[in-house]
Amino acid sequence: MSLSLSLSSSASKLQAIRWVRPRLDILDQLLLPHASTYIDISSSADGHRAIATMQTRGAPAIAIVAALSLAAELLGSSHQVAQLEAESAATFIEQRLDYLATSRPTAVNLFDAIRKLKAVVRNAVTSGEDVVGAYVSAAEAMLAADVADNQNIGRLGAEFILGRSLGNQLKVLTHCNTGALATAGHGTALGIIRSLHASDKSLEHVYFTETRPYNQGARLTAYELLVEEIPATLVCDSAVSALLRSDPSIRAIVVGADRVARNGDTANKIGTYQLAIAAKFHGRDFIVAAPTTSIDLDLDSGAGIVIEERSQDEVLATEGFSAESVVAMGSELKRAVVRVAPVGVAAWNPSFDVTPAELITAVVTEKGVFVKAEGANEFDLLKSLSN
Ligand code: MRU
Repeated sequence: MSLSLSLSSSASKLQAIRWVRPRLDILDQLLLPHASTYIDISSSADGHRAIATMQTRGAPAIAIVAALSLAAELLGSSHQVAQLEAESAATFIEQRLDYLATSRPTAVNLFDAIRKLKAVVRNAVTSGEDVVGAYVSAAEAMLAADVADNQNIGRLGAEFILGRSLGNQLKVLTHCNTGALATAGHGTALGIIRSLHASDKSLEHVYFTETRPYNQGARLTAYELLVEEIPATLVCDSAVSALLRSDPSIRAIVVGADRVARNGDTANKIGTYQLAIAAKFHGRDFIVAAPTTSIDLDLDSGAGIVIEERSQDEVLATEGFSAESVVAMGSELKRAVVRVAPVGVAAWNPSFDVTPAELITAVVTEKGVFVKAEGANEFDLLKSLSN
């Protein structure tokens, strides 16, 4: 199937999350890149379902959709939470947040957002209306902060990479999808690539992995790079070592994160760890880009990170859309599931892995670019963030 999509759309069309009080719409990422369909999320139950089924995905986007789905519910016409006493309104919100916490386990942004939102509703003590108002404003502030944070990550990460590279002809490789679709806008690792592309020194080329088994790279990063007109080539996950050996001008691998422990160990999309090993072997930089909402200062290492395991069906079969229905566009897309492995075989399908800090060159956050102390194998992110 060809990836030559008709892309008259501008970058601003790549908005995974649309919030116009009191309405939340999200771009259905199960239909991308073949159809841009927004779905209305009017309750925390809708938000939970959209996150669990991966209609929305990516660590920052998960947290923001969760927070705003409950905001939409609280502002919805059928809801009376604002009429309750402050205590009851706060209890209701906390219970819905606990429910949203069960949608996906690995990305810490969701738990960080929930902790902050619980504190906000507990601080608003005068009335139910006050509690709801404080909650909605805090959820909206998270949406705005994520865009600003990503722009800073993009700028700081691009400066860091350009500062280390000789010459202008820079190539980088990325994994999974960390762009506008995975965040409130701009993206983290893909935000750095966007910023590099926009900078005077030209980014010559981007390689990106298909990111089996869910194909966030082949479907979503492909789409974002096409929209941005950034020169790029898709490679199989298993082609990366061969690619690094054949092209020394790929200076860095840039990835996002779902959870970074205090020492820099990083959980990210399955396959990230093997990319870091390949980068180390070939002497290339391995850069993690993440907002500080992805840093879990409660964890001293990656050993404590819960890794989501998804259905073995994602590995045993491939899923997509029939080529005919994609070519026809406009008409109804027809989902096709093609069984690859023989019936009776079992598969292991961890959605994430943990890359040891030792293999990571730098952690780029909106607050700065952090590197390890001379001779150290680990970061001290607690110290870096408190400076
Ligand atoms: O399973 P997904 O698609 O939610 O996984 C996404 C990733 O692993 C991303 O790299 C990470 O969330 C960072 S997104 C800015």
